[in-house]
Amino acid sequence: MKPIECVLAVETSCDDTSVAIVKDSGYVVCQVSAHQDLAHAPYGGIVPEIASRNHSVALLPLITHVLEKAQLNWSQINGLAVTNRPGLIGSLIVGIMTIKTISQAYDIPLIGVNHLEGHLLAPFLKDDQYAPPQVFNYPYLALAVSGGHTSLYWVAEFGQYTVVGTTKDDAAGEAFDKFAKMAGLGYPGGAQVDRFAQNGNTAAYDFPRSLAIEDNLMMSFSGLKSSAQRMLEKMGPEEVLKNRGDLCASFQEAIVDILVKKMIRASERFNCKKIVLTGGVSANTRLRAQFQAVALKHNFQVVIPPLRYCTDNAAMIAYTGLLKLQRGEKSDLTLGPSSQSFENDFKFDLQ
Ligand code: KG4
Ligand code: ZN
Repeated sequence: MKPIECVLAVETSCDDTSVAIVKDSGYVVCQVSAHQDLAHAPYGGIVPEIASRNHSVALLPLITHVLEKAQLNWSQINGLAVTNRPGLIGSLIVGIMTIKTISQAYDIPLIGVNHLEGHLLAPFLKDDQYAPPQVFNYPYLALAVSGGHTSLYWVAEFGQYTVVGTTKDDAAGEAFDKFAKMAGLGYPGGAQVDRFAQNGNTAAYDFPRSLAIEDNLMMSFSGLKSSAQRMLEKMGPEEVLKNRGDLCASFQEAIVDILVKKMIRASERFNCKKIVLTGGVSANTRLRAQFQAVALKHNFQVVIPPLRYCTDNAAMIAYTGLLKLQRGEKSDLTLGPSSQSFENDFKFDLQ
C-alpha cells in the first residue's frame, strides 16, 4: 500500500460544504467551501432539509474544483476522509455516500472523522499565507466555541482528548444568534453583534455572567439569553434600535468575560500556558482581542488559527484523517452518520 501523504476530505456536518486536500505536514494544498447563510436566513436558523439538499448540489462540483485547482488527479490522492459525527444526519449522509463512492471507484482507503477532533487539531494546519507558531505542540488546552458546541478540552496528544469543561445549556454561538434574532439583526447573528458592538459601550447594560466566578470550568449561557430577552421586550423595538451598539457591546462582553475567565482558570488547573481558541465564535473581534491581551499579561501562548480553519472546514478533517490513516485506522462501507460523538472519542473529567 502507498504511504498516506495526501488526503482529500469532505465536511458536510452542518450548513457549510467544504472540500480540501492536505499533505502530511499539515500543509493545505487547496480548500474550497460553499456557504448557505442566504438559504437559511429567511427561517432565522438552519433548516436541516435545506442544508442536505444544498450539500448534494454543491459537493461534486467542489470536489472537481479542488482537484483542478491543486492540479492533482485521483492517482495522487492516497487517502479520503469525511466527517461522520457529530452533525445533522441528512447533511452527514451526503458527504459519507460521496466519499464511499469515490473510495470504491478509485480504490482509495477512507476514514470517518469526528468533527470536534478536527477543530482541536486545526492549530497544526498551514498554507502559503499562514504558518502556526514554530514551537507549538501537545499538550495544550483548547476552547472550541461555535453555534453547536462550547467546550474546553485537555489535548494530551493526538487521539487523547478530555472534555474538562462545557456549557450546561446553550452554546455561546447559539446565544449570539438568538440575541441577534431578538434584536432584529438577522441571521447568522454573531458577526452582526460583533459589528454593531464596535461602536458600543461594553458597560452600558448589566448582563449576568452565570458560573463565571465559580471555581470550576462549567459554563452557562441560557440565563444570559433570558435576561436579554426580558430586557429587549421591556425596551421595545425603537429603543432597542436606538441603543443597538451599547446592547450588542454589553451582551458580547458578558460572553467574552465568561470564556476568558474559564480559560484562565483552566490554565491554572492544568498548569498549562498553551491555549488554542477555535470554532466559529473565535471570529469575534473582542474575544480575539481579550485572548491576546490575557496572553500578554499572563505570558500565555495563544494560538488562534485563521478563520478559514476555525469555522467549519474540510482541511481540519483531512489532517485528522491523514494522521488516523497513517496510524493504520480505516473505515469500511458500514461507516454511517451519527448525531453524537462516539463513546470513545473523548474522555470526560469535568472540573
Ligand atoms: O464553527 P461554526 O462556523 O459552525 C458551527 O456552529 O459548528 O460557528 C458558527 C457560529 C454561529 O453561531 C455564528 O453566529 C458564530 O459562530 N459567529 C460569531 C462571529 N462569527 C461567527 N459569533 C460572534 N462573533 C463573530 N464575529
Ligand atoms: Zn464546528
